[in-house]
Amino acid sequence: MSADLPRYFDYAATTPIDREAARAMLEAECEDFGNTSSPHIFGARAARRLEVVRTELASLLGAERVIFTGTGTEADNLALLGAELPDGQILVSQIEHKAVSLPAQLRAERDGRAFVELPVDGEGQLRLDALDEALQAPTALVSVMHANNEMGALQPLQEIAARAHAVGARVHSDAIQTAGKLPLNMRTLGVDFLALSAHKFYGPKGVGALALAGDATVQPVLFGGAHQAGLRPGTEDVGRAVGLLLALKRTLASHESESARLAELRAGFERRMQEVDGVAPVGAGGPRLPHICSLLIPRVAASALIDRLSAEGFGISSGSACNTGEAKASKVMLALGMQRAAAKCVVRISLGRHSDAEGLRALENCLRRHLAELRALAP
Ligand SMILES: Cc1ncc(COP(=O)(O)O)c(C=O)c1O
Repeated sequence: MSADLPRYFDYAATTPIDREAARAMLEAECEDFGNTSSPHIFGARAARRLEVVRTELASLLGAERVIFTGTGTEADNLALLGAELPDGQILVSQIEHKAVSLPAQLRAERDGRAFVELPVDGEGQLRLDALDEALQAPTALVSVMHANNEMGALQPLQEIAARAHAVGARVHSDAIQTAGKLPLNMRTLGVDFLALSAHKFYGPKGVGALALAGDATVQPVLFGGAHQAGLRPGTEDVGRAVGLLLALKRTLASHESESARLAELRAGFERRMQEVDGVAPVGAGGPRLPHICSLLIPRVAASALIDRLSAEGFGISSGSACNTGEAKASKVMLALGMQRAAAKCVVRISLGRHSDAEGLRALENCLRRHLAELRALAP
């Protein structure tokens, strides 16, 4: 393990690859390197290996079919732009990642459909009353992320999907933050399309998957060869698919004990940080993932804190995108009802496999020191 890993607190952005998954990936890249479309034994061997992985992943997810993609973003795009849909509007939550909200908007414009963003409450939970009201109009697709990447809010997907299906709409969920953290079964959740990204669960970067349930279908959004039944042309990366599946199985194997461990670490950290004037966890009153801690630190610009912590070797993050030096308030925080100024003062600390009490204490001390200094500098 790299010596500085205990200072990494940005597991919601990406995770270090699991060494077993990396080894299996490399072995597959070397042994089963053939092009799955090639008409010879090397191609056939790679194709066989990929189909074994695809079938196992589909079964793990309760899916009918899995399409491998290059990223989670691409899996979301394939669902939003490519899903075969009935007539009607497209509904998404107000706190979707741009990998969902942008293609959803594009699809609606392209097809001449209405596009509606549904509100969430102060804890980041989709307002089911608003969903019910919106579903009065003909609806083609409801897309709600399983858990939010900025503050971890977990959505009642089963209820959302049941309501959407009752009016004949399709359901897509970006499960990029929950895959590997929770067992996901599309039949139980009742969703038609589910997007995953391997690098969020200790798998390799550069591979994602779109899982399809029941009779859900997509049209391709990329055009080229006949790979993956033409639905996602381009030579498949068998090694990365192998790495994705193994990483997912390995994180799931310990998800219960790991979730309990991280929830306990986070509870102590949040309790201690709340001793600091005005500091408050975001969304802590609702169901949320155990490893994401979003902290509002009033009067301290998140970007300044992140820079100072980075200079001390810590990796933490925020939801605000920094454009030309000017931090923009996070859309997610605004959707929770936060004022624009406060929304720029939220940092995200996300825990994972290499997080421990000692590292978190060191982070806490560093945070306390710098936030006091920054507050002293503020006018
Ligand atoms: C909720 C969510 N959706 C989509 C993405 C995009 O995934 P990828 O980086 O694999 O394209 C991310 C990554 O930050 C995410 O957190």
